[in-house]
Amino acid sequence: MNTQILQFNTDNIRLAAKEILDGGIVAFPTETVYGLGANALNPDAVKKIYIAKGRPSDNPLICHISDKAQIEKFAYLTPFAEKIIDVFMPGPITVILQKKPVVPDIVTGGLQTVGIRMPAHKDALSFIKACGVPICAPSANTSTKPSPTAATHVFDDLNGKIRYILDGGRCGVGLESTIVDCVNGTLLRQGGVPKEDIERIVGTLNPPPQSDIPLCPGMKYKHYSPNAEVLLAIPTADMRSRIAAEYDKRQGKTIILTLGGSYGNRNVCSVGSTVEEYAHNLFDCFRRLDDEGYECIICEGVDGSGVGAALMNRLTKASGGFVF
Ligand code: TXA
Ligand code: MG
Repeated sequence: MNTQILQFNTDNIRLAAKEILDGGIVAFPTETVYGLGANALNPDAVKKIYIAKGRPSDNPLICHISDKAQIEKFAYLTPFAEKIIDVFMPGPITVILQKKPVVPDIVTGGLQTVGIRMPAHKDALSFIKACGVPICAPSANTSTKPSPTAATHVFDDLNGKIRYILDGGRCGVGLESTIVDCVNGTLLRQGGVPKEDIERIVGTLNPPPQSDIPLCPGMKYKHYSPNAEVLLAIPTADMRSRIAAEYDKRQGKTIILTLGGSYGNRNVCSVGSTVEEYAHNLFDCFRRLDDEGYECIICEGVDGSGVGAALMNRLTKASGGFVF
């Protein structure tokens, strides 16, 4: 199959929507990361997502909608969920609700709950609206690769496996949505909406339970990792001198991801000057540095408030626990 990157215009949106209604899968941009979408009400189409990504089939998918009024067609609302939806949707947040029978089991990995998200992204919304059905979509990367934040990232992973990639440029946030399980008030994944902002509206959220049966099945798989070894530095006052010392110990081709630090003549990759820019650029840097053949990426840690918490979560996962 030939994979085409399509610019956003009326004709291409129509083409992509037709592909969805014909049972195909299409990659599309959102404000967080690119998604790989199918008609959530067509189990055969949904199956193609799992195959294209190489994703385990017990890992459920988020349903994307273009209008909050659609939520009640697919899920049961609660007062708790409504508070979150009123304030943060559209936006980089996913709510987990009890599903209605119309949602196929393949979408939810057999769970009785479903994840619902309305992106704050004009082009994503016009695409979903043109389809006229809920679009279930995981991130449009090969499983375990960093999530795609540009159409070229999707192309690199899925070329030949899907017909269309809608190109909306770089994703603004650059990290995935925050996931709140509204059935039991639990924060399942840190993401684009900071935990503190949600807690200001609904009070303290439960932390993800430590159990052998993860409530959020995706969390048990290795994620977000480039091929290079990733090291994460704890953000202490002497962080930069510790990073320099660690760099000097490394034999392979090594680089430092930094928020404007200076490291003499060592290899550095600037991720911007704010935590938001770091989040926006992280996955793109991981992919680029892999292409450039780096064997080790040493990342500066950041303060864990606001989007910093989601960023530290992704960095910790990518490091596979190599935190110093
Ligand atoms: O920002 C995002 O959320 C992006 C864009 C494309 O919307 N999507 C995304 O999807 O990151 P994905 O599949 O890569 O991650 C969704 C996570 C997975 O860890 C999955 O296990 C979890 O959400 N999830 C989905 N439905 C769930 C449910 N009913 N209960 C618990 N966790 C669920
Ligand atoms: Mg993903």
